[in-house]
Amino acid sequence: MTDKIPLLIDTDPGVDDALALLMAFNDTRHEVVGLTIAAGNVGLQHTVANALKLCEVVGAQVPVFAGCVAPLLHPARDAAYVHGRDGFGDVGYTPATRSVEAEHAALAILRLSHAHAGRLLLVALGPLTNLALALKLDPSLPSRVARLVVMGGAVSAHGNISAAAEFNVAFDPEAAHLVFEAFPAFDLADWEATIAHGLHHPSVVEWLAADSERARFYEAISRKTREWSADRRGDHWHSADGLAMAYALHPDGAAETAERPVAVELAGRLARGATIVDWNRQEGRPDNARILLRYDQGRFETLVREALARR
Ligand code: RIB
Ligand code: CA
Repeated sequence: MTDKIPLLIDTDPGVDDALALLMAFNDTRHEVVGLTIAAGNVGLQHTVANALKLCEVVGAQVPVFAGCVAPLLHPARDAAYVHGRDGFGDVGYTPATRSVEAEHAALAILRLSHAHAGRLLLVALGPLTNLALALKLDPSLPSRVARLVVMGGAVSAHGNISAAAEFNVAFDPEAAHLVFEAFPAFDLADWEATIAHGLHHPSVVEWLAADSERARFYEAISRKTREWSADRRGDHWHSADGLAMAYALHPDGAAETAERPVAVELAGRLARGATIVDWNRQEGRPDNARILLRYDQGRFETLVREALARR
């Protein structure tokens, strides 16, 4: 057993997921032991193909496990309008030659939690369907996970897919509810933290000019969403999963956090999928989330820049 921290990433690649994966593969203190793939940004067939391609670009022989093809209960809209129909900017890349594993993502999560019991860092960058299914199969899962980091939610109801809800949680609110109820403590990097830690477009363009295959690949797959973002969100680009991965890999880069009870609204005509934070602890529920409020922006940008420049 190496002394590296075993890292399992549940993800729906997705352009910002890809940046988070590049950051993880560039980290020397963690060993990526698997990628479990969710439907979300785009359909499962694309998110699986994108994960396999990203692994090929970085030369990583990490097992990729396909997960659930749809949310637990209600169908949901994808985010192809942000990431491209294929989730990777519709650049028509040559598919990876490696195949996905036969084992379902939920079963892989459970097996890897036993293999790395007590040491596993689990990072969830997409809808939480696979993790929720794993919990239904084995409710003891949290006892074997050293740390769970979730990209999701909008802690003051500044949503990105509806007025109050963030995409990952809103795509499968029942799954998020099951996860938030099952894990007594998890780290949360939400949409509002993402917006507060934007990346200046000109800096990103400079980083993408690095002489590396990773930078060239990422420049291509991210072009469409960067253009979309510049049109709609101004001079900064936002990488929700990149920030969550920075928090996961280097928690000491968090400048400010808040521990509070967080729950998911499952009903509601206006607020289904909203993450409700009991800021004043009115309800007497335990603090289950350590919410990232501020991260060291320079540290974040260095992690992004170095991940892209890696040859
Ligand atoms: O709301 C942002 C999240 O939704 C990110 O994880 C992005 O990849 C999408 O999955
Ligand atoms: Ca994602």
